[in-house]
Amino acid sequence: MAFLLLLRSNQMIMSTAKKNYKRITVKSLVDMKARGEKISMLTAYDYTMAKIVDSAGIDVILVGDSASNVMAGHETTLPITLDHMIYHASAVIRAVKRALVVVDLPFGTYQSDDKEALRSAIRIMKESGAHAVKVEGGQEIRASIRRIINAGIPVMGHLGLTPQSIYKFGTYTVRAKEEQEAIQLKEDAKLLEASGCFAIVLEKIPATLAKEVADSVSIPVIGIGAGGGVDGQVLVLHDMIGMTNEFNPRFLRRYMNLYDDMIEAIGQYNKDVKSKDFPNNDEQY
Ligand code: KIV
Repeated sequence: MAFLLLLRSNQMIMSTAKKNYKRITVKSLVDMKARGEKISMLTAYDYTMAKIVDSAGIDVILVGDSASNVMAGHETTLPITLDHMIYHASAVIRAVKRALVVVDLPFGTYQSDDKEALRSAIRIMKESGAHAVKVEGGQEIRASIRRIINAGIPVMGHLGLTPQSIYKFGTYTVRAKEEQEAIQLKEDAKLLEASGCFAIVLEKIPATLAKEVADSVSIPVIGIGAGGGVDGQVLVLHDMIGMTNEFNPRFLRRYMNLYDDMIEAIGQYNKDVKSKDFPNNDEQY
């Protein structure tokens, strides 16, 4: 009898655990928009961080090509390669039990022709186990988006400030403030929806325009520097936990100041080693 009770309680614990890990899918996101529930998204580029982000209940993890800046110290996102993105995405996938994992197709892997775009997306999906890809742009990459989606791979769009085009823009300032660019952006958002994208990221555009776009499409619109009228928010993890300290745009809310905390902790360790305080008698065998 006691054995049966134990078995039953173990089964209950297991089914609760499974429930907690109900996976987020592209459909869950569309449903969340339909019922007005905001979507949370953060970047992650490695196993340890992805595990923390997933455990904290974030809905979408973006393996962003911002890894080029954050992980590799490049000035732009342009240098990161498909192999690098697959490496980061594979590590993230190994950690994640619940979140939807979206991976950026890096610069130069989808713009030249749609067949190359599909090959790049297939490599990401096959070699990392990711759930979807993200691409920057609208009308100009329509054929690539269609081909990837036709192969059964979910695509997230990205409009507004698109860092892969930084040398065309010249600066990282707010986009679509002028009427012509705002009209183009609205058309591109409609086109991404019609092409079958499951969501759109809007980066650094006026809040009123972002809300107008979010209200005009049925797919979720996730903003970064695009105000609160959209369907969800994304930030770069290392910025929101204050691990980076040189990037201070108005839209960034820092929830921790890890840069200073880590300097202090590492400085203390350094002192303890030099003064022979570490390790003490309890910290050895
Ligand atoms: O690469 C990235 O981190 C991104 C986010 C800023 C949306 O594309």
